[in-house]
Amino acid sequence: MGRGRSVILCGMPGIEPYLRRMLQGWQTIVVANRPPIDVHLGEGGVDRITRGGGGLVTAMASLARSSNSTWIGAARGEADHALIETAGEDGTVEVTTEDHETFRVVFVEPNPEAYDLYYNQISNPLLWFIQHYLWDLGREPILDSATGRAWREGYVRVNQDFADKVVQVAARSSLRPLVMTQDYHLYLLPAMVRARLPEARLQHFIHIPWPTPQYWKVIPRHMRDGILTGLLGNDVVGLQTSLDVRNFLMTCEENLGLGVDHRQRIVFYEGRSVWVRAYPISIDVAGMAKMAASPAVRQEEELIAAWRPELLILRVDRTDLSKNIVRGFLAYERLLEAHPELRGRVVFWALLQRSRQNVDAYRSYLGALVAATARVNRRFQTGTWLPIRLEVADNLHRAVAAYKNYDALLVNPIYDGMNLVAKEGVVCNERDGVLVLSENAGSYEELGQHALGINPFDIDETAEALHTALTMAKRYRANRSRQLRQTVRRNDITRWISNQLQDLNDLLAQ
Ligand code: G6P
Repeated sequence: MGRGRSVILCGMPGIEPYLRRMLQGWQTIVVANRPPIDVHLGEGGVDRITRGGGGLVTAMASLARSSNSTWIGAARGEADHALIETAGEDGTVEVTTEDHETFRVVFVEPNPEAYDLYYNQISNPLLWFIQHYLWDLGREPILDSATGRAWREGYVRVNQDFADKVVQVAARSSLRPLVMTQDYHLYLLPAMVRARLPEARLQHFIHIPWPTPQYWKVIPRHMRDGILTGLLGNDVVGLQTSLDVRNFLMTCEENLGLGVDHRQRIVFYEGRSVWVRAYPISIDVAGMAKMAASPAVRQEEELIAAWRPELLILRVDRTDLSKNIVRGFLAYERLLEAHPELRGRVVFWALLQRSRQNVDAYRSYLGALVAATARVNRRFQTGTWLPIRLEVADNLHRAVAAYKNYDALLVNPIYDGMNLVAKEGVVCNERDGVLVLSENAGSYEELGQHALGINPFDIDETAEALHTALTMAKRYRANRSRQLRQTVRRNDITRWISNQLQDLNDLLAQ
């Protein structure tokens, strides 16, 4: 396949010339289960298009916009199918969101039963659970022949569908493909694509933690070996933190018996060297500031001003078990028990986005957190004060307005790849709010020093940290929030992208 020079760039000011230079001659293809957009239907068809949820979309949206890449994602329902109707002849849909972000999307349309097995049986209840250490191993998981079927007829098949689409999209251009695959849904794809597009460069970024070799042994050998050999089809495997990189190298060594260079961070596989690198993901600080100043966010702030108490604790999360929402409420209950003087003066606002409701564990978790909220509210509420304000909604403008207004931001995941809420919160906040941060969030490596660190399992320690946050002297708060802001600004999404492209460039130069 010949090389051309036609990457058109738009988006973040400052990074475009750099990206243009780095990506010259390449056709960039982002592959992720989730498309970058959520499509909302009205009576006459497609009504609104907003940016999709979750950390992956938040981060990759910047790259996709800036590099004019094609984003291959799964069609997940009626609304996506309605949008596909508007696609051009080659199946590409060009969309602009409410916030004026433009994307080129190509949808994969897997068989619904296969998709259900891939997403609701393997990716989320199995791989997500392993990679966040979510199981109570004495009781779960219970694996049986249905697991093997879900793997073969769901995970393998949908990975193949995505790989086929990558090959099709690559064939449309004379540029050499640069395939940037995302996350745990698509671990098998790189080897499949390499077999058919040997000229492609392949990079995979894993947004979630990489656990120890022993923990991977919970799942059958053919599955865990398939995951590694699929990933080793890449030229570069990117992870969030240096700990994830060490775990990945050890997993290749221990579980597959491969040769590994721990100092150079290389796995030797089938005569190739696969680079394994840490790229701590971040946010588009300029884009965030722009949104924070937008009329839509200001309007949301007026609504907040009408009810906000003297002190506001905030959390913004998907309703995911790894986010540790219930323990957050238990810690708040301890806070109100131990500090009656705070009653009536503080509200804990949980702004949550419904997530993965076709998976049993997620459905019951949502039930559990609603029940915990009701119990704490019943225990402490008065005629004029509701201690927890629980909102299950998907409203980015409201979340940004909330970021601007918190006094304490609680980010207490059990384990988390990075956690972009922590980064978004600290750059938007205007009240010198304090960040209470789990030491098991990837972002702790960068932000821990200026946050109040907690063990996420310890609710007394979390309650104590919330109290310290709410009562800290202004000058200390101001100092901490300045340091946090500077840290995120220095390491924003531009750096995340450029570090990856720099490595790819070095690799290409070899
Ligand atoms: C995390 C994962 C992403 C995922 C997102 C939202 O950020 O790393 O891969 O897209 O959660 O989850 P969902 O299942 O709704 O796509």
